This record gives sequence, C-alpha cells and structure tokens, in this order.
Amino acid sequence: MREGSPHAPVRLTDYQPPAYLLDTVDLHFQLDPGRTRVRAEMALRPNPAAGEPGAPLVLHGQELELLRLELDGEPLTRAVYSVDAERLVIPEVPDGAFTVVVETATRPEANTALEGLYTSGGKLCTQCEPEGFRRITYFPDRPDVLARYTVTLEADRASYPVLLANGNRVAAGEGEEGRHWVRWEDPFPKPSYLFALVAGDLTCCTDRFTTASGREVDLHLYTEAHNADRGDHALASLKQAMRWDEEAYGREYDLDLYQVVAVDDFNMGAMENKGLNLFNSQFVLARPDTATDADYTNIQAVVGHEYFHNWTGNRITCRDWFQLSLKEGLTVFREQQFAAAMGSEAVARIDSVDRLRGAQFPEDAGPTAHPVRPSEYVEINNFYTPTVYEKGAEVVRMLHNALGPEGFRAGCDRYFERFDGQAVTVEDFLTALEEANDRDLRQFRRWYTQAGTPQLEVRSSFDAEAGTFDLCVRQHTPATPGQPAKEPVPIPLALGLVGADGHDLPMQLEGEEAAIHGSRVLLLRYEEERFRFTGLTEEPVPSLLRGFSAPAEVDYPYSDAELAHLAGHDSDLFNRWEAGQRLARTHLLAQADAVRSGGEARLPGPLHQAISRLLEAPADDAALMARALTLPDEGQLAEYMETIDPDALHAAREAARTGLARELREGWWSLREQFRDAGPYRFEPEAVGRRALANTALGYLMAEPDEAAREACMEQFREADNMTDQLAALRALAASDIPERQEALEAFYERWQDDPLVVDKWLAIQAASPLPGGVERVQALMDHPAFSLTNPNKVRAVIGAFAMRNPVQFHRPDGAGYRLLADLVLELDGRNPQIAARLVKPLTRWRRFVPEREAAMHAELERLRERAGSPDVGEMVDRALGDEEA
Ligand code: TRP
Ligand code: ZN
Repeated sequence: MREGSPHAPVRLTDYQPPAYLLDTVDLHFQLDPGRTRVRAEMALRPNPAAGEPGAPLVLHGQELELLRLELDGEPLTRAVYSVDAERLVIPEVPDGAFTVVVETATRPEANTALEGLYTSGGKLCTQCEPEGFRRITYFPDRPDVLARYTVTLEADRASYPVLLANGNRVAAGEGEEGRHWVRWEDPFPKPSYLFALVAGDLTCCTDRFTTASGREVDLHLYTEAHNADRGDHALASLKQAMRWDEEAYGREYDLDLYQVVAVDDFNMGAMENKGLNLFNSQFVLARPDTATDADYTNIQAVVGHEYFHNWTGNRITCRDWFQLSLKEGLTVFREQQFAAAMGSEAVARIDSVDRLRGAQFPEDAGPTAHPVRPSEYVEINNFYTPTVYEKGAEVVRMLHNALGPEGFRAGCDRYFERFDGQAVTVEDFLTALEEANDRDLRQFRRWYTQAGTPQLEVRSSFDAEAGTFDLCVRQHTPATPGQPAKEPVPIPLALGLVGADGHDLPMQLEGEEAAIHGSRVLLLRYEEERFRFTGLTEEPVPSLLRGFSAPAEVDYPYSDAELAHLAGHDSDLFNRWEAGQRLARTHLLAQADAVRSGGEARLPGPLHQAISRLLEAPADDAALMARALTLPDEGQLAEYMETIDPDALHAAREAARTGLARELREGWWSLREQFRDAGPYRFEPEAVGRRALANTALGYLMAEPDEAAREACMEQFREADNMTDQLAALRALAASDIPERQEALEAFYERWQDDPLVVDKWLAIQAASPLPGGVERVQALMDHPAFSLTNPNKVRAVIGAFAMRNPVQFHRPDGAGYRLLADLVLELDGRNPQIAARLVKPLTRWRRFVPEREAAMHAELERLRERAGSPDVGEMVDRALGDEEA
C-alpha cells in the first residue's frame, strides 16, 4: 500500500460471520435511466452463529442518494444512524427479528463504471458481482448473506416493454401514464451478487429443454430485434451444456425458466445471475457470416461456463471473495471438460494450456503473482485473474486426476449434497473430496496458498548393461511477492517412455512386480525424487508431464532428435504438440540471441525439417495439425528470455516464418488446396479443423506475399461465405505492406460498419498488425467514429490487441506505446476503474525488459501512481512497482 492511501487491504484472516441474517428482500424499482428509485424491504434477524449480540447493523452502499430509512416501520432520522461514502450504520437494532426499509435513488445513465444499475444501448441492466449491488441500495452486500428475493420492476411500457429479473414471473400489471410493472420471485436463497434485472425493448428467441427427470424448462434468449437471427448457436450450446451436466455430474436445472440476455456494454465475458444470465454480446451472438470459428467455440464454452455455475457458484456459493476460485476454478474445469466432450480432447487441452501459459504463467512470475486463494486484496475486482480462474481449474484437474473420475465424482456428489444452499470455502470442497475418497489432501492445499509456477528439473541416465533408466526429478517454486520461501507441492507427473520405434515401452519401477503399459503417473511430493525403471533394452525418450498433468514448467535437456521423435510419435497427442513447440522455442530463442549479439536471424535447420516432416505426413486431425504448424507467439517466447528484447524476438520469429514460407511454398499451396472447406458453413469440429489448417497455410503464403498469394488471399477475402475465412484473409492482408491491404480494410469496414461485433474485429486486426507505425495507427483508430471509450469491447479491441498481441509495436523503443497506454488508463480511471486497472497489466512486467524499455515502462507506472485516483488502478500500480507491504 502506498503511504496515506485511504484504501486499506481486506484480509482473509479478518473474516467474521455476518452479525445479522437476511431472510427475505422485497425490492421495488421505479426504473428511469436518469434517476431510478429503489425501495428495499429487508427482514433481518441476529445471526446465532455470530456471537455478537447487540452489534450495530452495517449496510454497504456507494454512490447512492438516501431518500428514506425505516426500522420496524418507524422512520429513522440522521440522529440515530450514520452514513458515509461506503456504508450506513444503525448502531442499535432490536434483539430479535426486525425489518429495515431503505429508499434510495441511483443514476443509471451516469454510471460509466458498469457496476450496479446502468444503461447499455437503450436498455437498463445490472452487474452485481462482486460488489455492485451496493450501488443499487444499502445492503449487507457480502456473499455469505443469502436471502429470498421478490422484485417488482416498474417502467415506461413503450421504452421498456420487457422487464426481467431472477426466478419466476409471478404477476404483472398496468401503471399510470403509460407505465407497467412485472413482479419476479426467486425461490432460491441467493447472495446479492447474483441479483440481476434487465429492462428494454428486446426480442426473445425461445427453446425448450426437458430435464433428465422430465421437467420442462423454457429457455429465453433476449437480443435486440436486429440480432434475433444470431441466437441459435447459444441456445444449442445451452441445451448441450444442460444435458452434459446431467450426464457428467448428475446436476439438473432447478427453475422452470432460464434466461439469457445479450448486452453490448459489459466489463467481462458473462455473468451467472440466478436464472438470468447476462452476456457480453460477443459471447452469445453468432451467425456464420459475422462470427468466426473461434467465436463459436468461445460462445459454447462461455454459455456452458455460466450454466455450470448454477451448481458450482449459485446453489453452493462462496463464503467470502477470497474463496473466488471455489466457484471459478471448479467452473472453468467443468467448462474445459465440456469443451473436450464437444470436440477434440487434445485440441481443447492445447488451447487451454496455451491460455494458461500465455497469461497465467507470466502473472505467476511477476509482481502481481498471488495464490489461487489470495490472502489479501485492496480491490477484489483486481482478483478476477488467470490465476484464480485458469490455475484454479488446473488445481481441480489435478484433484480429478489424483482421485480418478469416479472418486472425483463421488467427492463432488458429496460436496453438492452437504453444502447445497450454503456459502462455503475451498476447505469445505477439499474436505468433501477427502471424505468421499478416504484420502488425505493436506499437502495438496499448498496449491491454493502458494503462488508461483513450480519448475521441474528432470535429469536421466541410462545403464545399457543393467537395463535401467533413472530419472531424477527436482521441484522448485520461485519466490513471489510476500512469499520468499516455498514448500514442495504434490505434482502428478504423467509420463511415458518412448522407444525407438515410437511406441511406449513398458514401465517397471525397481521393486514392482509387473510393468505398466502406456502412461503412468508418478506423484511427486518431495523436493527431489529418484525413480529407476528396469528391464529396458534400449534408451527411451521420456515423454514428461503428458496431457500437461500439472501447471508446472519442465526442464529436461532434450536433443533436437529426441524432440523430433516425440513430435512424430508420442502416443500422447498433447505432448506430440508440446515437443514441436519446445523444438521451435529453443531455436527461436537461439536466433533471438544471435540478433542481440549483432547477427542476422535465419530459419533454423531443425525447425525447417520438423515443419516439412509435418507437411509430408498425412493429417488425420486437421485442427491439431494447424496448431502443430503454428510457431509459439512472441509473448510466450519472451517468458523464456533472460532479458526480454521484443525486437530480437520479432526478428527471429519473422525470419523463421518467412523462411518457412519460402522453403516450403509448394507444401503450403497444396495444404491449402487440400483443406479448403467447400460448401456451406457448418460449426463442426471437422470443418473447424479444415478451416484452421487451410488458413494456417494461407498465413504462411502471405508471410512472403508473391503475386499468386496476394490474389488468392484477396479472392478468399471477397468470396468467403463465412467470417472465419474472410477474417483470416483480412488478418494476413493487414499484416502485409501491400496495396491490397488498404483496399481490403476499407471494403470490410464499408460492408460491416453497422455491426459492432464485426467492427471490433476490424479494429483489433489493425491494432495487432506488426507493421511499422503501430502507435500512430492505434491513435487513428481511437479517433475513428467506430471507436468509443465507454464501450469495453472497443477498448479491448484496440488497446487490448495492441498492448497484449502486438509486442513489437507496443514495446517501441521510444516508449510511445507505453505512454499511449498510460494516457488511456488515466482517462478511464475515473470512468471505469475496473477496465482501467486491467489495462495496467502489460506494464507490470517492466523489470524483465532490456534497460531502456524497463526505464520507459517504469516512468509510466510512476506517472500512474502520481495521477490515478481509483483504488483499482492504485493497487495494480503499487503491486507492479513492488513496494507494497508484503
Ligand atoms: N462470475 C463471472 C464469470 O463467470 C465473472 C464476473 C465477475 C463478471 N465480475 C464480473 C462478469 C463483472 C461481468 C462483469 O466468470
Ligand atoms: Zn465464472
């Protein structure tokens, strides 16, 4: 914390149960975009578990106009309560049950933070997780206070014909002067963060689902009228998710109605409000000509994710926000299982590991590193992180693997049975798993409390005469802020021993009766462990951490030949891909080093051979092959560089890409011909794979854009009947300094200017283009009429793409990229601090860069520290600079 900061950290160890419980809440909204009046009637009683009789009643509240306060029907005056910018306190309340009525007003149109009640495109909507409800009324706004809600929404009928809230619609009627009202009742007790309302002029796409036990559920997906033809995929995904959760976890939906609403202005992806999910339009609307395969895939995953929260998050919720990963880690894991079941398991795994490595590993290695269950925060919004989500999911995956599918399911069954309707902790989840399996997971808890990515150093030796292969495995977790020394964590090391013919060799550890065929898992528990495999007649190549069995980094001295062998033969498809990536990484880093010491980057021979071998082999899984042919991106490579030099990395990767383009030209052409998708667009794994592969080939052809490639690319751009192919062509054109570039960008905008989600793609492609002049390009985009600072998707499209996916331009030597980012953070700091704080992220790793970049990033962080006012940005900057209290 900086000195004199008014924002004191919240600590896990300070947790106290609520002094008062809330049985029911009756909410009345007089909705108006300028000023909405809210009447909240709460039935409260002392919490017998709190042991604090006579405690004051503390209600949270922010940016509220207090109109009236009543206790047991009597109005209270300022003499008997106190109120400041954060809370309202009634020092004395009755001993037994009592009611409180609060009347407040809020200003939805002026709410640019997009937390609480706000407006988006003529709609009124809410976002309450984690602490937005306190911007609606004074309330015990904490997840361990669960209540039954009744909500009456009253609004102008013409502007807001549709009025939605959680649960079931129980009554409706007409009001005066063209107003109408609708009443909703949610039978399930819930914390305030799951409250939602929507009011607007919306079209409803409907569907129906019959649950395993035969109940009928109405599915309502609301969009603006012009988007009514873009809801089918989300509805289909929802039904898939509902069925899958019944089959995989025995979990049924529990209300008669499931509502989903698409919202254009949204801080994150989507929100699991009980019976009324709100979605960023990006993760719900799709039509083949406007959404890419990646969009379709994301929609399926996010729809699944929010649906799965109904059990992991809503029916069982979090005691406090330190437990966030209890719902998010588990739900991301469930989402990943669902994605794997809907498509190729190996591809799903590669994509989630790529996300983990791209965002979580860097976080874990930098100044904002924190455990999956953090122990303190200033602003909880800053902890919706890749660590809590993605690493949290990896930890659950390890539990799943350690207990086996049946054991894990039994543990989850027990968790659902025992804690249904409660607000619980990570500890409770682990206890349920332990009890159902009669297992001790004590050491496992370190994964929740210790930050940092464990490094696994593996060394081997082979004794041909004795027929033994020894593995020595050492684990080490680097220090992270506030945690200088680490304990060993349990690491399930899935491995195989690959023989010269490419098959797995039988594995028999010294002292074992029989050999194991295929993969096996060694559970590491100590800092150093040794394993001796016996009965081997040849030296194997170890295939380590198969399927990425733990979120760890493996260090093993593979030779190029060994990596090529694994890349060609490993029975574990994930590790087959991994071996190729490792080979590419090693050589690209060597080239970057050569550039650093004044040399020229060129295409490394072993990489050339590996890719050409891939091109010759028949591709049975096109999606997998597309990933194998793609070089690790500059962001990921940077993590392995001692001191990051973005220019050297870019030069190395470009030299390899253009080299491969040149040397294997015929191969790319024939690959594209072979896999180009004919016929109408279908979102099916096979077709998605074909498009990915053909477009990977196009990308290589356009890395050295000769006449033929340019023509082919322009033709694909013009003729494509789907956004996947059209965008792949546009991306390739936008990255090339050729006349067609401008032509295509203009035509695309002309065609799609009225479609905000497609315009986001147009913005992002230009912001991510590595061509010189990136900063100026981004400035021009921000001046373009299509841009808007108040729309988070636009900010992410331009600035997100620039700062996170365009390293060579963002890290321009003169620091102009950093300045632009910091200026934007300052502009957003007062309007939408949640988004502003997220944009600080790319600056936080300043210490890892070559000196002049390091200094320039540091200067911008200092400027932010001087000028930013929000606790959100303040906390991120303090952590980035690394001088907060440990
Ligand atoms: N709980 C949401 C999810 O499933 C995430 C979330 C947290 C969120 N805060 C939000 C979404 C604010 C939108 C806006 O992942
Ligand atoms: Zn979630």
